[in-house]
Formats: sequence, structure tokens, C-alpha cells
Amino acid sequence: MRPVTDARTDALPDLISPSLLSADFARLADEVARVETAGADWLHVDVMDGHFVPNLTIGPPVVKHIHAVARRPLDVHLMISEPARYAAEFARAGAHVLTFHIEVARGPAAHAVVRAFRGEGVPLVGVALNPDAAIESVAHLLGEVDLVLVMSVFPGFGGQKFMPEVLAKVRWLRAHGFAGHVEMDGGLNDRTLPACAAAGTNVFVAGSAVFGAPDMSATIAGFRAAAARERAAARG
Ligand code: DX5
Ligand code: ZN
Repeated sequence: MRPVTDARTDALPDLISPSLLSADFARLADEVARVETAGADWLHVDVMDGHFVPNLTIGPPVVKHIHAVARRPLDVHLMISEPARYAAEFARAGAHVLTFHIEVARGPAAHAVVRAFRGEGVPLVGVALNPDAAIESVAHLLGEVDLVLVMSVFPGFGGQKFMPEVLAKVRWLRAHGFAGHVEMDGGLNDRTLPACAAAGTNVFVAGSAVFGAPDMSATIAGFRAAAARERAAARG
């Protein structure tokens, strides 16, 4: 078994990706500017279709307008039933990272989604899995994707409680040599983020903990410091 980190994963940056789901949607441009000034690396954009998840959020037109005002890359998390169908629209809207859920494209169908995203020229392609999906369900994709998003809550809503049992999936990915980005999403805050970093996560999504913080800059700086500290400790 490989250790949690090695020379290749050491080179991965720690990236803080605040979820705009917790922003004030009536003032999105101001919220984007505020979170970028506070130190966001990526902007996490939660797209929900009311079918794969029991909530509706935004679609390509809004992503396009966010992209027009954003200075940081858009990390687009598709919680939708037909990701390949909308690949072109999200690519054109400016997605830098485009992530689909394995639950909607199991087995060989997942390769077709990756191909569709690549065909549209998306820079980084990701696959996400729900808390109750086995990590082995994405094993056949690890040579094809740039990012694995491990959900630490059931998708649909911000502000839920972190599920620590999913940390084993991150350790599994690193132990099996996955050297791409590993992103954790759901319930991250200053108490839950350190264990994510120690397990090998390098992209940290946080919605309510960032947008609800009294001092957004200090919160993001604290996340970054904790991530660096835990990943250094994991190196030994
Ligand atoms: C949940 C979304 C998350 C969510 C995270 O369905 O995928 O990105 O916005 O919000 P917090 O950090 O509040 O759990
Ligand atoms: Zn998300």
C-alpha cells in the first residue's frame, strides 16, 4: 500500500473552493468579488436539477454570468441526471472544472460522460460520488479524470453535518495511487477540515462556513493553514 501522500500528491496545491450556494443570489457579483478578495482559489458552483437531487438551483445562463465577473476558475458540480446532454452548455458557460455524479452514469456510461466533457474542451473533468456509493464504483475512471469529488453529505442542500465515514474513501484513492485532485464537499468547517486534509484531500469546498463567517478572510486563511499543516504532518 502507498502512503497517503507521495512525491506526486505533495505537488498538488491546497485549494479552497467556497460554495456559492450559500451566497446571496440577489447580489451574486458582489458575493463573488467578496469571496475572491477573501482568498478563494476556485468558486464552487452547485447545479441541481430537482431530479437527481430534491432541489433546484441554477443553470448555464447564470454560470455564464458568474464567469463574466469571476477572476477565479469555476468549479462546477453537476447534481443532474443527464450531464452529457448539457456538457456543451456548461463548457461554453465557462466551467473550468466540470464534475458529474457516478450515480447517474455507472459502469461504461461514465466513460461516455468523460468523453463528452473532454470533447467540449473542459479543462478539468471530475467525478463525484454520494456518501453511500462505494469508492470502487469510480475505480475504472481513475485513469481518465482529473478530480474525484467525495461527498461528505447527501447532496441537495448546504449546512448539513459532515459524515466522517467518507474519509476512508480519500485514503483509498491515495493508497491506490490516484494523484489527481481529491475534493471534499459538505459540512466542512474548522473542526472537520483537518481530518480531510490528513486523509489526502487537497480541494476543500465550504459554503455555510465561509459565507456565514464573521471574518471570511480569516476563515479561508485558517482553512489554508490547517490544510498545509495536516498534509505536512501526513508526510511525516
Ligand atoms: C451540497 C452541495 C455543497 C454545499 C456545501 O449539495 O454540493 O457544495 O453547498 O455546503 P456546506 O459547506 O454548507 O455543507
Ligand atoms: Zn457541491
